[in-house]
Amino acid sequence: MQIHSSIPDLRATLKTCDRIVFVPTMGNLHEGHISLMTQARQHGDTVVASLFVNRLQFGPNEDFDKYPRTFEADCEQLQGAGVNVLFAPTEQDLYPEAQQYQVDPPDIQNQLEGEFRPGHFRGVATVVLKLFNIVQPQVAIFGKKDYQQLMVLRNMTRQLALPIEIVGGETVRAEDGLALSSRNGYLTPAERAEAPRLYRVLCDIRDAIRDGDRDFVKLEQAAVVQLDTHGWRTDYVAVRQQSDLQLPLAGKQSLVVLAASRLGIPRLIDNIEI
Ligand code: PAJ
Repeated sequence: MQIHSSIPDLRATLKTCDRIVFVPTMGNLHEGHISLMTQARQHGDTVVASLFVNRLQFGPNEDFDKYPRTFEADCEQLQGAGVNVLFAPTEQDLYPEAQQYQVDPPDIQNQLEGEFRPGHFRGVATVVLKLFNIVQPQVAIFGKKDYQQLMVLRNMTRQLALPIEIVGGETVRAEDGLALSSRNGYLTPAERAEAPRLYRVLCDIRDAIRDGDRDFVKLEQAAVVQLDTHGWRTDYVAVRQQSDLQLPLAGKQSLVVLAASRLGIPRLIDNIEI
């Protein structure tokens, strides 16, 4: 695996590479990330991963400084997963001057995650567009774990006519259902034992909707009550349309249930497609 931190060095390497599949990450890798690397192999010839903790997408009170940085272990995992090239820029490499030109996503950036993380999707869209311009992949893979992120990036790619196919990777979970996340490491043992409830309440809503329940608001409220009586502080549980994450219209469309809730310090997010 070749490792580059400078943009010119990376570009020189990629010049001679065929069909590039790109998987951006912020590191502290787990099996969820690695599943995207494995999937990448099936979509092209050269698998490029990036590792960059992007300051632009963290709010002032979020965990940018504390975000776990585990470069050596990450490299070992990427090597083991057959990644060909790792782009791991420093902040100086990627943002040598203030990033004044940014991508401003539409109003969905203020809903769901966006309501609780102002500016987050602006920071994500900006860094991903910049990474796309640097790597120039034919395919890019993002996890469904961050469903709203996947949707924002898919729509950005389509509306800006970027010649890139966006692929969504399934969420990898622990045996008890908890979605793998770098932030799970912040959970105490007692919180870790409680954490799978988030996925269980999403499954319950899915099952109820499959059985014909259309009272989404009641289902959402019941889920919030269940979580909060078990020590969670829930930001939202929301039934939305898969395509644009807007409120479901009457009739048959594909739905997704999304949730974000705090258990102790960490804030966990998850979702389930119906
Ligand atoms: P990060 O949180 O490191 O996630 C990198 C990729 O791994 C994302 O596409 C995310 O959805 C996916 N992922 C995380 N947990 C997963 C799981 N349990 N199963 C499957 N995929 C999972 O998301 C980001 O970084 C950043 O916002 C980034 C896109 C790199 C831009 O900075």
